[in-house]
Amino acid sequence: MKTTIQIKSMKKNNQKITMITAYDYPSAKLAEQAEVDMLLVGDSLGMVVLGYQSTIEVTVEDMIHHGSAVTRGAKNTFVVVDMPFMSYHLSLEKAMENAQKIMQATNAQALKVEGASQQILILVERLTAAGVPVVGHIGLTPQSVHVLGGYRVQGKDIETAKRLITDAQNLENAGAMSVVLECVPDQLAGHITNRLTIPTIGIGAGNKCDGQVLVYHDILQYGVNMTPSFVEKYADIGKITKEAIEKYCFEVKSKQFPTESHRFTIDDSLMKEIER
Ligand code: KIV
Ligand code: NA
Repeated sequence: MKTTIQIKSMKKNNQKITMITAYDYPSAKLAEQAEVDMLLVGDSLGMVVLGYQSTIEVTVEDMIHHGSAVTRGAKNTFVVVDMPFMSYHLSLEKAMENAQKIMQATNAQALKVEGASQQILILVERLTAAGVPVVGHIGLTPQSVHVLGGYRVQGKDIETAKRLITDAQNLENAGAMSVVLECVPDQLAGHITNRLTIPTIGIGAGNKCDGQVLVYHDILQYGVNMTPSFVEKYADIGKITKEAIEKYCFEVKSKQFPTESHRFTIDDSLMKEIER
């Protein structure tokens, strides 16, 4: 398993950092076998595997249920768990309590929080001091979708671009181990990456970030409704899965499955006695 120090030193050594989301035991196991640097139990799990409308419906219990499955599946990979909607906003004490709950129940290595308000910066400082590495997340922050007014690129005007630069620097100063930049223009993400000593991990933020993160089901096309333009589709597991299930159903209906190789048998003589 990579340590926070190793992850941070990858930036210095100009080695790209790979991160992918995972939400359960098999996805975590496969991502670990593929030797990904870091796993993210994103609150995107709400939409991707639970069928919620947005990440706003995701609870601490959801994150614990899925986060602990991921750490069981990827025992040798650095796992980051998202703190879900409003689980870190009611008060600093409530936020610390929820962080403790998630860390102790999941055995994860770090937590991720969205935004860089004064309240978030204090939380990042407190968590880090308490021994919890924190990954920041700025740009498009889906938990604030209704304030942002939709899922759109952030930092296209001077004011928000400058704000993002300050936010990133403030997160680093507060002790964050890394910052996710979501849907930020390529050049701005590059500028932020150059200014920080901690690694930036981009999603829809161009190729100048120190690492990349994508949603597992997006790159595999596994049961997703639509795919953002910044995603590369590396496989079509949805198509393969649907075809396999169709074939299974057809073979049952047409009595081709199960065959002799799928059966258990007893001696015919024994069966005769049973029938007698
Ligand atoms: O929840 C998630 O999947 C995320 C990544 C998109 C960064 O936060
Ligand atoms: Na998230």
